[in-house]
Amino acid sequence: MDDVYKIIDNICINHTIDRETLATIIDSKDKEILECLSERARYVTRKLFGNKIYIRGLIEFTNYCRNNCYYCGIRRDNCNITRYRLTGEDILLCADTGYELGFRTFVLQGGEDEYYSDEYMCSIISAIKEKHGDCAVTLSIGEKSFETYKKYYDAGADRYLLRHETADEEHYKMLHPDNMSYQNRIRCLYDLKRIGFQTGCGFMVGSYGQNVDTIYKDLKLIMDFKPHMVGIGPFIAQHNTPFADQKNGSVMLTLKLLAIIRLIHPHVLLPATTALQTMDENGHNKGILYGANVIMPNLSPMHARKNYIIYDNKAYLGNEAAESIELLRCNLKKAGYEIAISRGDYNE
Ligand code: 5AD
Repeated sequence: MDDVYKIIDNICINHTIDRETLATIIDSKDKEILECLSERARYVTRKLFGNKIYIRGLIEFTNYCRNNCYYCGIRRDNCNITRYRLTGEDILLCADTGYELGFRTFVLQGGEDEYYSDEYMCSIISAIKEKHGDCAVTLSIGEKSFETYKKYYDAGADRYLLRHETADEEHYKMLHPDNMSYQNRIRCLYDLKRIGFQTGCGFMVGSYGQNVDTIYKDLKLIMDFKPHMVGIGPFIAQHNTPFADQKNGSVMLTLKLLAIIRLIHPHVLLPATTALQTMDENGHNKGILYGANVIMPNLSPMHARKNYIIYDNKAYLGNEAAESIELLRCNLKKAGYEIAISRGDYNE
């Protein structure tokens, strides 16, 4: 028993984890390890962020994508979904609604859709910043050139989310077709940080081909790159993708990894993701008990939510819906947490 606490205290003190410890934690069904991880992660989060949970309004503005990632429901070759695009005006209306509801960060997320030229994207970013000067704009629209990222930044975008998906090059190839590369993904992340974005990476838990070694590399990347945000959630099969028959990722492993990420990189902004909530109706609250401190409710128009199907049964109502923020507030309150009405920037 002492051992368990000692192992986990070591992660807390040194902000690092070795492969053996990671393997022990991943394999363990020991309740004590889980409780200890959760307790320590919660303690660290409370100390740095109090009982505040940051909210981000998610605007899924296009489900067109030029990429063909094997796991993703909006991949180019999926002809079984209805494609849509929101206009700049639509997006601004979502932001207005979000502002009224108390959101001070808007996340513009979409497939890699060349319809949105640099100029168009920049005009959308600056329109939101002009109207809602006290808000942060986060982009999550994939791999671009340094120059394009710089234009977005100069137009006023504050943050950028680009999950690295896996930090193992061979594993990366198992998840993506040949025209995508791990090198370019990482190049993008370093460019974003250099330009000045608060930058987020992340990965799916339980993706095809993932193992202790690849997860160890993911954690190593987090320790080295020191992202401002990390998004992780269980892989969930989408029935019209090459990975339709792969098994879903585990909620428990996701929780363990959330806690470890909190301990190795304490100041990180760490969402309890939609995928976690999709797999478990209490996913948000569980995530928060393991060190998550961000929730990203959906602000997209209903027709968009229904078609932004990156995996099967993706949650977009109740706790996941921006318009039900009172429900979210109530559920968080039961666990002793409050929603912060602020931008919620990274702060070290
Ligand atoms: N299951 C879980 N997460 C997925 N993503 C894409 N497809 C799936 C899936 N089937 C994640 C990827 C991507 C993010 C937007 O959603 O990590 O970066």
